[in-house]
Amino acid sequence: MISFENQRFHLRNKFFSYVIEISRGKYLLHRYWGRTLKEFRDSAPLQKIDRGFSGQLADFENERTFSLDVVPQEYPVQGHTDFRIPAYKVELENGTNISELNFSSYKIIDGKPALKGLPASFGGGQTLEIELVDACKNFTVYLSYTIFEDSQVLARSAKFVNSGNKKIKIQNAASAAIDFADNNFDIINLYGGHAAERTIQRHKVQRGIFEISSTRGASSHQQSPFIALARPDATEFTGEVYAAGLIYSGSFSAKVEAEQFGTTRLVIGLNPDVFSWTLEPNEEFQTPEVALNFSADGLNGMSQGYHQFYREHLLRGKFKDKVRPILVNNWEATYFDFNEEKIISLADCAKDLGLELLVLDDGWFGKRNDDNSSLGDWFVNTEKLPHGLKGLADEVHKRGLKFGIWVEPEMTNVESELYRAHPDWILHVPNYKPSYGRHQLILDLSRADVREYILDAMRKVFSSAPIDYVKWDMNRHMTESFSAKLPADRQLETQHRYMLGLYEIMEKLTAEFPDILFESCSGGGGRFDAGILYYMPQTWTSDNTDAVCRLSIQAGTGLAFPIISQGAHVSVTPNHQVGRVTPLQMRTLVAMAVTFGYELDITKMSDVDKSEVKTYVELYKELRPTIQLGKFTRLLTADKDGNEYAWQFADDKKVIVMYFKVLSKPAEPVRILKLAGLDADKLYTMKKYLPPKKLGVDGGPQKISFDEKSFYGDELMYSGIAVEKIETDFAAYMWVFEVE
Ligand code: GLA
Repeated sequence: MISFENQRFHLRNKFFSYVIEISRGKYLLHRYWGRTLKEFRDSAPLQKIDRGFSGQLADFENERTFSLDVVPQEYPVQGHTDFRIPAYKVELENGTNISELNFSSYKIIDGKPALKGLPASFGGGQTLEIELVDACKNFTVYLSYTIFEDSQVLARSAKFVNSGNKKIKIQNAASAAIDFADNNFDIINLYGGHAAERTIQRHKVQRGIFEISSTRGASSHQQSPFIALARPDATEFTGEVYAAGLIYSGSFSAKVEAEQFGTTRLVIGLNPDVFSWTLEPNEEFQTPEVALNFSADGLNGMSQGYHQFYREHLLRGKFKDKVRPILVNNWEATYFDFNEEKIISLADCAKDLGLELLVLDDGWFGKRNDDNSSLGDWFVNTEKLPHGLKGLADEVHKRGLKFGIWVEPEMTNVESELYRAHPDWILHVPNYKPSYGRHQLILDLSRADVREYILDAMRKVFSSAPIDYVKWDMNRHMTESFSAKLPADRQLETQHRYMLGLYEIMEKLTAEFPDILFESCSGGGGRFDAGILYYMPQTWTSDNTDAVCRLSIQAGTGLAFPIISQGAHVSVTPNHQVGRVTPLQMRTLVAMAVTFGYELDITKMSDVDKSEVKTYVELYKELRPTIQLGKFTRLLTADKDGNEYAWQFADDKKVIVMYFKVLSKPAEPVRILKLAGLDADKLYTMKKYLPPKKLGVDGGPQKISFDEKSFYGDELMYSGIAVEKIETDFAAYMWVFEVE
């Protein structure tokens, strides 16, 4: 998959080609990324143009058509004739951060070396490692590129080694930079806020620099560490899309620069605003990995590429490709106000409804009856649970359900035994008062003693009872990122050291407790990223459980992350976050479109609703292999006016289509949904059809099966299915086809 000929590396599989050129024996240029080429013979050579004010390096003073400012580079530095945004900056002992990286050697390795301490893709492939040495031999950079036979994703990262004999300080170290020859792109990114994560934004590349970033010590609700450059004519099904997804859970930055000569540079990696790293001689620094994804088949092609890559080359553990249990979580049912009896009553009801896992959320430990206290005190509150977690877990298991708990190990409260014993364990700046978020303080995970405490506390909890599932939360983001253990000139290492500490803890606990299904969370989706998915194969997508809001949140999340990794729960109506009243069928189908559960007091549901829930639960059990493990396609533009969504899930047995319409409108054309990716010659038999139920109409789904009809794949793809017009707001439809 990787060849080296005529000073060019050509990385090639059936999905894409990527070409790197060594120019003038030492500069590493980016020459091509896109559809697979048989060979790269340079049909569009770099043009020799004398560009004013683009300077020459000393060795080429008289060659005015050559400047680093005008050539496409693999890993550029600023201030050395390139004036565009840099991929890295390394401060040398004399105070400069100007350097020059020259090609030195390369290696092609079978497979993929692991990245020390960091989440990264794995599983086959071939890796090109290029060694670049600073012209004054102060340091060395290794650029790593892994190509997999079965994936359209290229994994890139960089490693810095202090190969000189003086201390250096890395001020900036991107995971990757890519130069594109033109700027005819739309940028697609996912922005949001707490309870409003990952809204899709698409806008034209404009001259200047556009940045998405987080300084929060978490990938954040506000911007997802994902960015795509799509050709303006790219649709869900056609056109070229180039995307970058960072496999990292902390502060990040992704910048797109459209510069003077009409080219575009993309740089993605750690956020230099909150990062630096000192390297003593012989020490090394590894950047996080970025998943570069080329799709020639539009945005669905991009999403499917990420879904497949993350599921097959990133998710780990015994649950990675197992269908996930249908859970009920007590958070929106009881908040902090529960006792053993209440939880057992939920378990009784859950059993009756056919649910499979009961999750005890926040409030079971210390003296935690509200969010003011007890984080860090990981021992059971026996006033609420007189028989402990073990007693409760046994009761839940007796009912044939699995048992899960909530923890938030990275935090403490002033009102806690932990804080009273170790006030210096939190992130804080000496002499300044620490800041709070939800009354809590962040433990300094860059410290080994803090990590040991957390590991010990979690080991005790996880082995104190038969626990099948753990929801790992993080309910505030970082301020005062200062560690009492680090010297002054290393304080900007705190955030990244915290992440390495977190990953170390997660690595150990997930390895020691392989039978626990872990779900991550940060006030919903404040840390929904590919980094965390390496340790925990699913994430609570959002604290917003309103079905209408969830359409947009799940559409955005699905753009870059697998369906099986997103948790969604049916909650009560009116909804607790936005007060909206929606029919049970819509709440259910929206949650069924990913990894499904319930989060309401199911004991208080009417008998009619309960019987409806039983029907849906049975249905989801039958459909979930296709939904969670099948191929996902958006049949309509991901967030079409925020009013209509159409999602298809397919495997070789079933094709499921869901269609949602938020508000009903008069005088609209009949909506035809054209199915995608079917086999034209196969027969597909429509086995189930759920038209929407009108608001306030009681009873189970109106009809769940009807006269079976069979169609060839070509007709379903090219003529499509017509959506029956039913006048109601919050309409949710589902069709299930079985493949011949
Ligand atoms: C966060 C989570 C919620 C719930 C609460 C408990 O906000 O996202 O689902 O677990 O914490 O405090």
